[in-house]
Amino acid sequence: MRAILMSVFSFFAAATLSVTNSLAGEVEVLHWWTSGGEAAAVQELQKMLQKEGHMWTDFAVAGGGGSAAMTTLKSRAVGGNPPTAAQVKGPQIQDWAELGVLTNLDEVAKAEGWDDTVPKVVADIMKYQDGWVAVPVNVHRINWMWLNKAVFDKAGLAYPKTWDDFFAAMETLKKAGVTPIAWGGQNWQEATVWETVVAGVGGNDFYKKALVEADMEALKSDTMVQCFEVMRKMKQYTDPNAPGRDWNLATSMVIKGEAAVQFMGDWAKGEFTAAGKKPGEDYDAMPAPGTEDSFLFNVDSFIMFDVKDKDAKAAQAAMARLILSPEFQVVFNVNKGSIPVRSGIEEQPFDSIAVSSMGDFAATAESGGLMPSMAHEMAVSPAIRGAMFDVVTNFYNSDMSAADAASKLAAAVGEAM
Ligand code: GAL
Repeated sequence: MRAILMSVFSFFAAATLSVTNSLAGEVEVLHWWTSGGEAAAVQELQKMLQKEGHMWTDFAVAGGGGSAAMTTLKSRAVGGNPPTAAQVKGPQIQDWAELGVLTNLDEVAKAEGWDDTVPKVVADIMKYQDGWVAVPVNVHRINWMWLNKAVFDKAGLAYPKTWDDFFAAMETLKKAGVTPIAWGGQNWQEATVWETVVAGVGGNDFYKKALVEADMEALKSDTMVQCFEVMRKMKQYTDPNAPGRDWNLATSMVIKGEAAVQFMGDWAKGEFTAAGKKPGEDYDAMPAPGTEDSFLFNVDSFIMFDVKDKDAKAAQAAMARLILSPEFQVVFNVNKGSIPVRSGIEEQPFDSIAVSSMGDFAATAESGGLMPSMAHEMAVSPAIRGAMFDVVTNFYNSDMSAADAASKLAAAVGEAM
């Protein structure tokens, strides 16, 4: 309802503006960035477009991970009324391009030199038959553990580096009356934690086999059973209100010291930043145990739907150009918690967590530890991802054994292939 109202309001705002500035083009942008940090980040794009005289009609569909937004997008497209631009990522970019409904962005890409500044691993996701059909915004790292510093200090605990240390610390915190793990009980969040555990327990080669190649042997292996056991163990350190909780509310528990840690991608940092918290003083972030040499990446991007109106076309081109401009890459990513997706951006004014992420992105690209996130649509097909989500969530929310979960996983993925 709120989203509908917001779009109605924006429509009237846009209609009023168009009277005063008839040269301006309009972009209606569908996205799911509604948390504090996310909204602060996306507003920067709106401001920059408006500065160039274009109009932004906001169509925000709340829901972490974007599945509600994607459902809305599909129904609007089916109804013949797609927005001008939409936050879409991974293989879905190819699906939309195949329908022949997207604006080709090669002209902007050429003028702005995208091929020279965007890493090939990202550019490949953005292109359809060698043409640019999407603009990348950022690089998020998934495999982070966020820690409230005061909670650890008060309990006299060092930050845990191994899974054994981690569970020992969780036990101490539980006894001290703190909720050890801030948990968001939604399928995409459970899958986000799970893929981090798969990298942390199984290592990079195992992650690639299981979650990128969907290799049957890896999916039903003893190592996978161990991964599920770690998930099961985590559950006893979560609170009874976890089911259904949004990710940003879980982050807020860590921000306020109501919980000690959260496993989440670095959009969580956007929430700490929006709350005025500083890394090293109020909170810290470390790669989850066992994932120091892994970088599970997740790239956000926008596609543009083909429009006839030439002012709208100009606004789309401006939006695409601005997204990869150095100025926007800095201000957006500082607020969003991610790192710039293009080369040539200075480390200043990014915080220490972003700077370490930038270093790890480059290092893991060399070492082979840079791996696509399954949960965030960078790795397997939507059908396989859906099968994995179902098994992980069913396992986590029942008393299924870890061994059963691994064999169900292999069976479900086999069927989805
Ligand atoms: C991810 C997206 C991030 C963040 C998160 C929570 O899929 O890539 O930008 O918004 O969902 O909504």
